Amino acid sequence: MHLRKLVGIAGITALVAGSLSGTAFGHGDKERFEESQYRHDLMEHANYAISNIVQLIKGKASHDGHLEKLADIMALSASMTKDAFEKDTRGMEGHTSAKDAVWENWEDFAERADKYTADTAAFAEAAKSGDQEATMAAFKKAASNCKSCHDKYQD
Ligand code: HEC
Repeated sequence: MHLRKLVGIAGITALVAGSLSGTAFGHGDKERFEESQYRHDLMEHANYAISNIVQLIKGKASHDGHLEKLADIMALSASMTKDAFEKDTRGMEGHTSAKDAVWENWEDFAERADKYTADTAAFAEAAKSGDQEATMAAFKKAASNCKSCHDKYQD
């Protein structure tokens, strides 16, 4: 797929900017406990994938076939999200940016993780179809999961 031809990218950067601002060590010097580190690193796969996707969309990089693979990375990391958060780590010593609300509202969180998994899988499918409009629409939908979940569940 030739990404330079993709249209309708306005707003994508704004859409994901909130997610992209998270950094591994941006929360003081308190170390993460193991589960927290794992969850964080899992999220970073999707974060870095989006970062590369945006470069491709904007034409700052051009690599045939990469969009499809990056979409797969997003979909795969999304598919591991629910499991990675399943263990209730409220009250554990060390840093996390996960709110207690994750486990207070586990059913809602789990549903969101399922939706995130489904939407990123749809994006991965669309990217392989070569249909640019469908790909962009599916990307926006997949990326919208990040902010809506973070607004409620991430500090
Ligand atoms: C179902 C909810 C949910 C979805 C969907 C989700 N996240 Fe997260 N994300 C979280 C939670 C909760 C944390 C905090 C994890 C922790 O610190 O233990 C987090 C943490 C992160 C972090 C680490 C930030 C930091 O400083 O700790 C990044 C980066 C991130 N997410 C990116 C993304 C991106 C990009 C997407 C979408 C492609 C996404 N997330 C989708 C819930 C979600």
